[in-house]
Amino acid sequence: MSAIAGFLASPIGRKVLMALTGLLLFLFLVTHLAANLLILIDAQAYNEYSHALISNPLIYIAEIGLLILFVAHLVSGIIIYNRGRAARISAYEEHRWAGGPSSKSVASTTMILTGAFFLIFVPLHVWTFKFGTYYDAGGGVRDLHRLVIEEFQNPLMVLFYVVGMAILGFHLWHGFGSAFESLGVTHSRTLRRVGNVTAVLMAGGFAIIPLVILLTGGLR
Ligand code: HEM
Repeated sequence: MSAIAGFLASPIGRKVLMALTGLLLFLFLVTHLAANLLILIDAQAYNEYSHALISNPLIYIAEIGLLILFVAHLVSGIIIYNRGRAARISAYEEHRWAGGPSSKSVASTTMILTGAFFLIFVPLHVWTFKFGTYYDAGGGVRDLHRLVIEEFQNPLMVLFYVVGMAILGFHLWHGFGSAFESLGVTHSRTLRRVGNVTAVLMAGGFAIIPLVILLTGGLR
């Protein structure tokens, strides 16, 4: 086993892998949010940006990279969760709130569940938008804006997204700060606060898109 493979198979290595993949996925989400906020501002700019992205041959490499990050994050998460469970004296364990300086919270103890939600969300999401109806905006550009506006006319779809983004916020609430801790940044109240604010901004930023579209019929 190479030194790197050996490190990644160790408990600390798995934590580092989990943190790095999580932070890279988070970076994808930041760019994805910024791009999708364009839907509410400028339809043409949104379509042109999406066109530039999907017509770039490097997109395939980026997509494979994203898939690898997602799978690595998921698998290391499941392994860490299972090892943690096995290590506890589970059968007779009395579950008590940690209190005090502990970072244990509803968000931290439900990471595996909030994470698992994205196993359902991401394939459905990609199916709906990436492989959804192809509208032509002219000049060989896909009218992705029209598709997004149409999808978010459905209140059930909007509800699914708003609840989904709340789950994303919950996951980031603990995950963001925890990733930095795994990479050696000292656990602190400030770090936790930064993680909490980031989580709210991300969840709110994404959730506002379907909500505004439903309430205004979509801006053009
Ligand atoms: C309201 C919120 C969101 C909107 C409006 C939105 C919109 C879109 C659209 C239109 C596409 C298709 C892009 C294309 O084919 O060029 C897409 C792709 C994608 N979205 Fe989202 N998205 C949202 C939230 C999210 C969230 C929260 C995640 C992850 C947790 C996510 C993950 C992805 C992924 C992985 C792809 C496929 C990227 C690719 O294959 O290139 N999206 N999104």
